[in-house]
Amino acid sequence: MSKKRIAPSLLAADFANLQRDIEMVNKSEADWFHIDVMDGVFVPNISFGMPVIEAIAKHAKKTLDVHLMIVDPDRYIADFAALGTDILTVHYEACTHLHRSLQAIKAAGMKAGVALNPHTPVSLLEDCIEDIDLVCLMSVNPGFGGQSFIENTYNKVKALKALITRKGAPTLIEIDGGVTDKNASELVLAGADVLVAGSYVFKSPDPTETILALSKQVNS
Ligand code: DX5
Ligand code: ZN
Repeated sequence: MSKKRIAPSLLAADFANLQRDIEMVNKSEADWFHIDVMDGVFVPNISFGMPVIEAIAKHAKKTLDVHLMIVDPDRYIADFAALGTDILTVHYEACTHLHRSLQAIKAAGMKAGVALNPHTPVSLLEDCIEDIDLVCLMSVNPGFGGQSFIENTYNKVKALKALITRKGAPTLIEIDGGVTDKNASELVLAGADVLVAGSYVFKSPDPTETILALSKQVNS
């Protein structure tokens, strides 16, 4: 079985010590950097903008997994490609022409991801799943770190896994929001490939150890 990946979300890092926290992730067992971009319009919060993301990209040595919680994400595809983004994820709810957005992301040399809000059924991806490299299932309402995990996510992971298998698609399943050691095993059992973890990692006494333990837990 392929390795289950851990993607710490820098949203929960100490922004006054960002380089320190990035180096911690670089040296840890983490697989990806998860970078949450919020515009204050699609979600009721603003995270950080291009100058900060450029600074992160300069130091981060692992896969850059960028989660755009913004309206009209097509406007920024070229910018994210230029700063070395590996996977660019847009929200289903923010894209009127999702298929076109996915093609534009791939044409810019990145992997294309689609995020679904908790209320959005996975069946809506029926006709484009083969074009999607990663589906990010939101297990909280996007906009803030530190929220509680929504239990219905397990059903969505299973439904998405069934769709991917039925279509023979290469799509990875990522879970984002409220991930901890309490739900990680069940999520992976249901079919998750990538676990995003913000508060659980960065608010723990020893983030490096927390990442290692979570990775071991889901890969044993
Ligand atoms: C929520 C973000 C998440 C968030 C996860 O809108 O997309 O990536 O940082 O944080 P935790 O793990 O604290 O729920
Ligand atoms: Zn995210």
